[in-house]
Amino acid sequence: MNPNELKLVVQEKYGQIAKQSILQESVSCCGSSGCCGELEFSMIGDEYTEVKGHNVEADLGLGCGIPTQFADIKEGDSVLDLGSGAGNDCFVARAIVGERGKVTGIDFTEAMIEKACANNAKLGYTNVEFVQGDIEEMPLPDNQFDVVISNCVLNLVPDKQKAFSEIFRVIKPGGRFCVSDVVLLGDLPQNLQKDAEMYAGCVSGASRIDDYLEIVHQAGFQQPIIHKKKEIVIPQDVLSKYLNADELEAYKLQQTGIYSITVSAHKNS
Ligand SMILES: C[S@@+](CC[C@H](N)C(=O)[O-])C[C@H]1O[C@@H](n2cnc3c(N)ncnc32)[C@H](O)[C@@H]1O
Repeated sequence: MNPNELKLVVQEKYGQIAKQSILQESVSCCGSSGCCGELEFSMIGDEYTEVKGHNVEADLGLGCGIPTQFADIKEGDSVLDLGSGAGNDCFVARAIVGERGKVTGIDFTEAMIEKACANNAKLGYTNVEFVQGDIEEMPLPDNQFDVVISNCVLNLVPDKQKAFSEIFRVIKPGGRFCVSDVVLLGDLPQNLQKDAEMYAGCVSGASRIDDYLEIVHQAGFQQPIIHKKKEIVIPQDVLSKYLNADELEAYKLQQTGIYSITVSAHKNS
């Protein structure tokens, strides 16, 4: 699939998740039954219930970390959340920036933006907004944000170089990003790599961790720090849908690791 086709798969998948959650008016199917590809996000994500600003209707269980924990967001900051989904991390960021700050969420899936706006209307925040747009080409001005956060999204973006140069462009000099994302140690087997479900489920679009950090560096960021790293173990029954016995054996020997990481870096003043 070419990059545009991959993006359509992602939009279709997350559009369904948003619509389903609107219909159910409850936690998305993904938290409980694993409809996001073959993986349950509950295996990947962190628990938000104790996090200040957590809003149950915005938490569709689609994250792979808690980027706000290490983002060093301060009261009054201007924060951008990439791939904001139903607004989960935006509302957590709003609890930190307060009345004086501003939070913007960007997502390219229309139904997610609708769900996030509906959640925001219920909360009554006037300094939280949601913008529909592609992270590779953000309809946002240069040097606008103190902090950019993102949770389990950049692995879904085909051109990560473009994404990180866009992140660099919109951050103020002296600002920073902190993202939770899925990365690889080693290479995924071909059959896992080319599967659309695995792509939309955040696995097969992931980059190798060293390539990822190189992209961050090439975009112009300084002092990358990996704050947290957690292995995501794909269950044997899921793997055997994609790999035959020999491939499965080779995969185990290869010791490819799939990890969720939370990483931050700075843009010099
Ligand atoms: C795994 S979900 C995570 C949602 C949210 N960050 C959370 O933790 O609940 C990925 C989200 O990223 C959005 N997304 C993926 N690729 C994108 C892109 N290129 N531009 C904008 N949004 C994108 C999807 O529409 C989806 O809402």
